[in-house]
Amino acid sequence: MSVSQEHFVDLIRLGKTYGETRALGELSLSIKRGEFLTLLGPSGSGKSTTLMMLAGFEQPSEGRIERNGVDITHLPADQRDFGVVFQGYALFPHMTVEQNIAYPLKVRKVPAAQITEKVGQMLERVGLQGKGQRGIKQLSGGQQQRVALARALVFEPSLLLLDEPLSALDRRLRQEMQVELARMHKEFGTTFVFVTHDQEEALALSDRIAVFNQGRLEQLGTPQEVYERPASRFVANFLGDMNLLGVQGIRRQDDALVCDYHGRPLTLTQATTHLASHLDPAWLAIRPEHVDLQPFAKAGAGNGVVARMEKLTYLGTHVHLDMRLDDAQSLALRIPVSHPLVNDLQRGQAYWCAWSQQHGHLISQ
Ligand SMILES: Nc1ncnc2c1ncn2[C@@H]1O[C@H](COP(=O)(O)OP(=O)(O)OP(=O)(O)O)[C@@H](O)[C@H]1O
Ligand SMILES: [Mg+2]
Repeated sequence: MSVSQEHFVDLIRLGKTYGETRALGELSLSIKRGEFLTLLGPSGSGKSTTLMMLAGFEQPSEGRIERNGVDITHLPADQRDFGVVFQGYALFPHMTVEQNIAYPLKVRKVPAAQITEKVGQMLERVGLQGKGQRGIKQLSGGQQQRVALARALVFEPSLLLLDEPLSALDRRLRQEMQVELARMHKEFGTTFVFVTHDQEEALALSDRIAVFNQGRLEQLGTPQEVYERPASRFVANFLGDMNLLGVQGIRRQDDALVCDYHGRPLTLTQATTHLASHLDPAWLAIRPEHVDLQPFAKAGAGNGVVARMEKLTYLGTHVHLDMRLDDAQSLALRIPVSHPLVNDLQRGQAYWCAWSQQHGHLISQ
């Protein structure tokens, strides 16, 4: 995906307070032209608040919003040229599909002939050709979502704001619509700002992810960056399972860093730990899928720890193992069902759990 580095919309030290509630604070974030940016975070973390201010439906308590360097903080919503797909910003139930899609163009006083042409194009692009005359209630949930997208995209907005547009759909439809959204983003070239609290959805769709927690931006990066090099314990855990081992004595050794886990040296390559020399003690973070299970006889070979098997959960494509270290700390592994040791794993038995140097990552405690 080619995303230009050009700044498009800048949020500058944006904050919002509702009565006593601090919904958002000190948010500085640059949205790049053409990117698919996802705001990800738990309930109440400030995602919708951010989107509402971007749309112009809410006024910030402090800070400002710029588009191409021009202050638009107080520009009314209908003059921002931003498309919105929000929950509660529903389709008009008494209008047909075509009338719904045509609505933003009518409001903008586009000539009738042009409206007909654009609506026809839009129906085709969202895969609803032949359904223009239908009433909204004669459509499935996924089809309604596509009408909502068509209505938001028909006036060619420079920015499309989507607040959990897929959350009401069942799993299968949701996955179909994810593919659809990714396709539309590519085809239309519009900048998307998408809100979700579903980490898999965020990882699958985004060029960049902004992880929110309690009204603060915790980390901004590509899906790979936030997943593989989380900046905090919160981000590490929010994006999936993460093993965290308490380590200390962090030191440089050639091109790598070495740290001690209960006196046992563990090595990390520098690439993933550029900030790590300032951290001590720290958490050594390793994803369960990066830990390999080996026989106890291999103990001491390379980077790893000894752990006992406590529980095995069969998950179809892989096996999840809950292991226990000597200090009672838990360690999770995710190994393929085809792994040579899977068939005679024994509870209580000790194994060597190893990972390669580039898969360890340090996080401050
Ligand atoms: N209109 C409002 N009046 C008062 N408090 C509000 C209002 N809107 C949001 N809040 C509060 O601001 C905080 C952030 O809310 P926000 O809606 O931005 O969260 P969110 O990240 O979108 O959560 P969710 O995933 O549940 O949609 C919450 O504590 C919420 O209760
Ligand atoms: Mg919300």
